[in-house]
Amino acid sequence: MYIYILIYIYKFIFHFFFRAIAEGVDRNVLCIIVLLTCQPQRPIMTRIFTYFMQQRYNINVVILVPGVHGVRAFNVRPYTASSCTSVEPVETDIKDGDVWDVFPSRLKNLHGCPLSVIVWDIPPYMRVNWQSSDPMDGLAGLDGLLLRIVARKMNFTLKLMANEPNGLIGGSSYINGTFTGAYKMLRERRANITIGCAACTPERSTYLESTSPYSQMAYIIVMRARSGYSIYEVMLFPFEKGTWLVVSTVLGLHWLVGSRWRMPSPILAGWMLWIFVIRASYEASVFNYIHNSPVKPSPRTLEQALNGGFRFITDHATYRMTLQIPSFQGKTSISAGQPVDVFDALLKAPWKTGAFTSRAFLAAHLVGHRHHRNQLLILGEKIIDNMLCVYFPQGSYFAWEINNLLFNMRSFGIFQHHSQILAWNSMPTTTTDTDTPGKSIHSSKESAARGFAESMSFVLAALNCLMGALCFSIAVFGLELLSRRRRWTGLAWLFERV
Ligand SMILES: *[C@@H]1O[C@H](CO)[C@@H](O)[C@H](O)[C@H]1NC(C)=O
Ligand SMILES: *[C@@H]1O[C@H](CO)[C@@H](O)[C@H](O)[C@H]1NC(C)=O
Ligand SMILES: *[C@@H]1O[C@H](CO)[C@@H](O)[C@H](O)[C@H]1NC(C)=O
Repeated sequence: MYIYILIYIYKFIFHFFFRAIAEGVDRNVLCIIVLLTCQPQRPIMTRIFTYFMQQRYNINVVILVPGVHGVRAFNVRPYTASSCTSVEPVETDIKDGDVWDVFPSRLKNLHGCPLSVIVWDIPPYMRVNWQSSDPMDGLAGLDGLLLRIVARKMNFTLKLMANEPNGLIGGSSYINGTFTGAYKMLRERRANITIGCAACTPERSTYLESTSPYSQMAYIIVMRARSGYSIYEVMLFPFEKGTWLVVSTVLGLHWLVGSRWRMPSPILAGWMLWIFVIRASYEASVFNYIHNSPVKPSPRTLEQALNGGFRFITDHATYRMTLQIPSFQGKTSISAGQPVDVFDALLKAPWKTGAFTSRAFLAAHLVGHRHHRNQLLILGEKIIDNMLCVYFPQGSYFAWEINNLLFNMRSFGIFQHHSQILAWNSMPTTTTDTDTPGKSIHSSKESAARGFAESMSFVLAALNCLMGALCFSIAVFGLELLSRRRRWTGLAWLFERV
């Protein structure tokens, strides 16, 4: 904590000397100004307070006036029951006091004064009902509730302001100081606060005042879950292509040779044993597949997804995050609407599409669409973590007070408490957890029913194959019958050969 002592002597000095010093102090710190003048003091003090309050947003200024009976101290109480912008000097007693008597906390009760807050819709963080007569009731969502608690604790009223252009979520910010949206408005001092899933970034905290992070956000990639294998694919599964080739060649040879030559008994016994082993291993593998219901493999890391030719979709606010990740360049497109709408777009997109989004948006989407949990899959590798901050115009004295409040609220676990409304428990599995999405979440009764259905469909598929083979042999038989007729000599020739 620094204390700057500025000596204010004559009125004309104010413009040249005093302001130059005050502007050189780049952060708002505690200021003590010693006023040495023979002119009427109150108007000068009012001017000093007006400068500090309105230009610097610094409330922690005390003016010391030495006199014959000792030193008198003055500061301001801008927020009182009768005024919201008072810059009148108020004398304070600083004898035997500590720093908190010199700079008392004057923001604990703002006496119902209005603060302008830039808000935008971004469920589940903020939902704004602009029609609501009381702005307090018009706010919902995690950050909306937070703002309401802060407003109630500090006793201020809300003056809600829409982002510019309307409908924009947040705004972009560049390190060269070019800002858009809400952050531009704050830089131009057209509002007092903004809150609503605003990421903490170095660009923003360079040009704006911010609180410490009050909440965390994990960015992930959500993909569509792939369907399991069809029963016919499962039937071919137990052996590789080569093995199938060998088995069918051996069987074909046996058929050709066996029709002409009777095998000696030892070879026949070996042959039977071989058939038995092949059959047993085939059945065991099929059984294993049916009971583990494997799914087609999905990528587990971002690299695998990129190599697999994945493309990504995201909403326009989250899109700004992808600009910092080189792997996403040229592979990401913006899906219109709110961040939570990206999942509907994902379910309609082709399979090799991933949604770049946050866990909270997914949890919010699942509140209304619990059945989507089986259709979605989270990429095993988490992409980045982000923090959320509340922003103020540069130097704003509200930052410190609200930061303290948020810190206390975080210690009490209010954020976890509020976020219980999201469907955290029904999150889809990640691709590294397990190969069988949706399996663990079925109750045992349900999985028994599913297992039965799958076994039955396998039996049905086997029956279909048998029927197919039967149809084939009937067709061959029919053709053979036809070849007996005189007109079909070509066919007869063919069957002679076979
Ligand atoms: C909040 O401000 C209003 C308006 O000045 C006042 O009537 C009320 O008593 C204040 N509440 C508290 C808890 O101080
Ligand atoms: C700041 O950077 C952004 C992006 O790099 C650019 O679009 C903008 O024109 C720059 N602004 C200034 C004032 O240089
Ligand atoms: C609050 O916002 C108003 C504009 O709505 C601005 O005039 C005022 O200076 C701001 N005050 C602080 C302390 O940020």
